[in-house]
Amino acid sequence: MSQQVPAPTEGAGAAADTPYAQLGGEAALHALVERFYDLMDLEPAYAGIRALHAPALDDAREKLFMFLSGWLGGPNLYIERHGHPRLRGRHLPFAIGVAERDQWLACMDQAMGECAVPAGLRERLAQAFFQTADFMRNRPG
Ligand code: HEM
Repeated sequence: MSQQVPAPTEGAGAAADTPYAQLGGEAALHALVERFYDLMDLEPAYAGIRALHAPALDDAREKLFMFLSGWLGGPNLYIERHGHPRLRGRHLPFAIGVAERDQWLACMDQAMGECAVPAGLRERLAQAFFQTADFMRNRPG
């Protein structure tokens, strides 16, 4: 379902090698998710996906933070709290096509840039985000 980001050193398995650790751990992930939703709220370029969300973004902020924590190889906060993410199913109520996918990815890439995610990690995460976001598409075009 939601693909994990491949560890940089195959078979290493040490917590220090996870994308979560490379990003800077909890505080850095928190800052990234905050910036992501701040940008979604502020930038006209992301108004299309902003409109799909509830007026208050608090719940989305908390859930994306918890989900990405596990997805990046850190603590499995989302699964511990909510069980299996069923991410595609949970997105079915929202019409997601290429335009929505690309807005989400652009918003996340801008957030990664503004949060100074190192270039190599940013590129690797952008590819992994693409796989997951593309899987979320539920209407043609
Ligand atoms: C492809 C474009 C995407 C769109 C348009 C989109 C949109 C949304 C919307 C509207 C919600 C509901 C938020 C609310 O409660 O107001 C949501 C929830 C969520 N999204 Fe996305 N999303 C996209 C991609 C992604 C991706 C790529 C990820 C993860 C890498 C993700 C992770 C989540 C999570 C964890 C939730 C909370 C699910 C829950 O209810 O427990 N989304 N998304």
